[in-house]
Amino acid sequence: MPQQNRKTVPDMDDFHPLYLRLSVTERCNLRCAYCRPQTGEKGMMRGSTLSDAEILGLLDLVGSALPIDKLRITGGDPLLRPRLPVLVKKIKRRFPSTLLVATTNGLLLGRQAEELRSAGLDSLNVSLDTLDPRVFARLCGIDGLQSVLQGLKSARRAGFGKIRINTVLLRSANGGTLHDLFRFAGNEDFELRLIELMPIGVAAEIFDQEFFSAGEALEMLSLRFGVPRSLGLSGTAERYLFPNGQVLGLIRTQSAPFCASCNRLRLDSRGWLYPCLHDYEGIDLFALWRSGRPEEAISEIRRAHGTPGVKRPIKDWTSRPMIRIGG
Ligand code: 5AD
Ligand code: SF4
Repeated sequence: MPQQNRKTVPDMDDFHPLYLRLSVTERCNLRCAYCRPQTGEKGMMRGSTLSDAEILGLLDLVGSALPIDKLRITGGDPLLRPRLPVLVKKIKRRFPSTLLVATTNGLLLGRQAEELRSAGLDSLNVSLDTLDPRVFARLCGIDGLQSVLQGLKSARRAGFGKIRINTVLLRSANGGTLHDLFRFAGNEDFELRLIELMPIGVAAEIFDQEFFSAGEALEMLSLRFGVPRSLGLSGTAERYLFPNGQVLGLIRTQSAPFCASCNRLRLDSRGWLYPCLHDYEGIDLFALWRSGRPEEAISEIRRAHGTPGVKRPIKDWTSRPMIRIGG
């Protein structure tokens, strides 16, 4: 964080509860065109992937600075981290009242859903941008749609509560087929969330041809499924109820940015803490923790979280590959 954005450390009372996004690996078994750079990933990395004990140490530190209301495990694809259920179990034991959730591309869920649920994972978001196997293969680099669908089924069987499907709005991949995703989600009782493409990392290169707004998507769906009623904001999503009883979430990253109410911090898999997707510098929390300077770390964490409504201005949208920071 640049020096000019630093303010004095606010009191604990000033904070709204923290939503921490924890990346547990940078590895991914997909290569989504809007997320993953084709080259140069290695050059971005600083430090090595944290062990379970190191992650728990850093979480303790964050937890002593701020109450962690919700913790989302991300990646890369988090299911590629060896023995993820063991880590989930340890986190749940240490933070029993924190809502523990994960976002995955779903490829490995078929094998892991049951174990993750019994380890204490409360709910799941699965990324899925199309139901067309050829479009999936073109967009994500492998022929993996069936595995994701299988993964979703296993997650349902494992007894997760509300399972959400995250769909990034992309003109060429789903601009004409959103109704299929909406119908699929309705039939299977998943909640569909449509996310506006953010021009971050490689997505900046395809942004102009691929972006379409959540408003446009809502209009398309209204023509087929009737006009929905707004249920208001839930976190970053604006939720709508359709006449058939189905709920749709819209995440308007571009058309109605929600930075002012953001309560997130992001901890990457190497122990760097980022207040914002657009912060390039970050804070080397692992170094502070290892050097036995918890007081300094705690004030850095509180400063990074800031007070409500005072998030950092958007600086360089294109700076950071999403795969490093987990969205
Ligand atoms: N814009 C919007 N969403 C993105 N995601 C990855 N890259 C982008 C982008 N440039 C989404 C993934 C996943 C979540 C973690 O972030 O599809 O659902
Ligand atoms: Fe992997 Fe998710 Fe990025 Fe796709 S969007 S390459 S699944 S991290």
